[in-house]
Amino acid sequence: MKILVTGGAGFIGGNFVHYMVNKYPEDMIVNLDLLTYAGNLETLKPVEDKPNYKFVRGDIADRRFVFDLFEKEKFDVVINFAAESHVDRSIKNPEIFVQTNVLGTTTLLDAANAFGVKRYHQVSTDEVYGDLPLDRPDLFFTEETPLHTSSPYSSSKASADLFVMAYHRTFGTPVTISRCSNNYGPYQFPEKFIPLIISRAMNDEKIPVYGEGLNVRDWLHVYDHCVAIDLIVRNGKVGEVYNVGGHNERTNMQIVETVLSALGKPLSLIEHVADRKGHDRRYAIDPAKITRELGWQPKYSFDTGIPMTIDWYLQNKEWWENIISGEYQQYFEKMYGDRL
Ligand code: NAD
Ligand code: TYD
Repeated sequence: MKILVTGGAGFIGGNFVHYMVNKYPEDMIVNLDLLTYAGNLETLKPVEDKPNYKFVRGDIADRRFVFDLFEKEKFDVVINFAAESHVDRSIKNPEIFVQTNVLGTTTLLDAANAFGVKRYHQVSTDEVYGDLPLDRPDLFFTEETPLHTSSPYSSSKASADLFVMAYHRTFGTPVTISRCSNNYGPYQFPEKFIPLIISRAMNDEKIPVYGEGLNVRDWLHVYDHCVAIDLIVRNGKVGEVYNVGGHNERTNMQIVETVLSALGKPLSLIEHVADRKGHDRRYAIDPAKITRELGWQPKYSFDTGIPMTIDWYLQNKEWWENIISGEYQQYFEKMYGDRL
C-alpha cells in the first residue's frame, strides 16, 4: 500500500510515521508537510533513510500541488494530520486555521475523490465536542455528543469533520474520523502544556498556569493514539467516527505538580497567570466504541507514560533546545510577555 501521511513532521504525525515505517516495511509512507513553525525534520531523522519512507514539502491547501502529487503517487490511503493545532495561536490569529484546517481538508478530499483513494482518514480532536462541566464527572463525550465548539481551533477542526462526513454522504468518499483526547509523548512542540512545563522547569523558569489550573484534560500517550489510527484505517467502518481516549483525567495543577516532583523542582516555579479566553473546562472521552468494535486498549496509563516522556525530554535536550532558542523566543514574549 502507498500511504500519504500529511503533517508527518509534527508531533503526532511524526510519531505515526515512525510507527508505520517500522511496522509495515512492505508499505510506502509518503510524508507531506509544509514545515511550518511546528514541523521539524529532526523528528524524522530515525526513519529518513528507510527505503519505505519519503518526504515531500508542500501545502495541503495548495490545490494544484496536491492534485499533481496525487496524480503522480497514486495513493491507496490518505491520513490527514496536517493542521494548525494550538488553541492559543488560534485566539491570536484565527485565519490560518481556516486556511489549513478547513481548506486544506477539502482540498485533500477533492484529490482523494479525483484519484480514487481507497480510504481517507481525518485525524480530529475531542475539542469538537466543546467542554463538560467540572461538577459532572459522570459525563463523557461519545461519538453522538453534538459538536459544540469554543475556540477558533476547535471550530476549524469541527468544520473539517463536517466536510469529511458531507463528502462521504454526497460523493461516497470512503472516510473515517478519529477524535482523540490530549496527547503527550516524544517530539511534542514545547508550546503545548506538558513539554512547556518540562522544558521550562529544567531551565528553572516560571511555569505559567492559566487561572486556577483546575481545568481538566484527558491525557493519552501518543503511541496509543498511533495504534488507534492504524486500527481504524485497517479495520474501521467507512463513514464512522471513533473516539480515542484512555480515561486519564487530570487537572492542570495535578500535571504541573507531577512533572515538577519528577524533576525534583520546587512548586514555587508555578505562576498563576491570566486565563485563556473561552478556556474549556473539562474534556473526557468515552472510548467504548473503539474498544468494543476494534479491540483497542491503551498500553500506557498516565502514571506509566509520563515518567517515560520526562525521560525522553531529558535524553533529547538538543531536540527541544534547538526549538526554544529560535523564533520561539518571540512567540513566548508575544503570548506570555504581559502575563508572567
Ligand atoms: P503539530 O502542530 O505538532 O503538527 C502539525 C504539522 O502539520 C506540522 O508538522 C506542520 O508543519 C504541518 N502543517 C501545518 N500546516 C500545514 C499545511 N498547510 N500543509 C502541510 N502541512 C502543514 O500538531 P499535532 O499535535 O501533531 O496534531 C496533529 C493532528 O492531530 C492535528 O490535526 C490535531 O488537530 C490533531 N490532534 C492533536 C491532539 C494533541 O493533543 N496534540 C489531540 C487530538 C487531535
Ligand atoms: P494545551 O497543551 O494548549 O492543550 P489544549 O488547550 O488543546 O487542551 O493546554 C492544556 C491545558 O493546559 C489547557 O487547559 C490550558 C493549560 N495551559 C496552561 O495553563 N498554561 C500554558 O502555558 C499552556 C500552554 C496551557
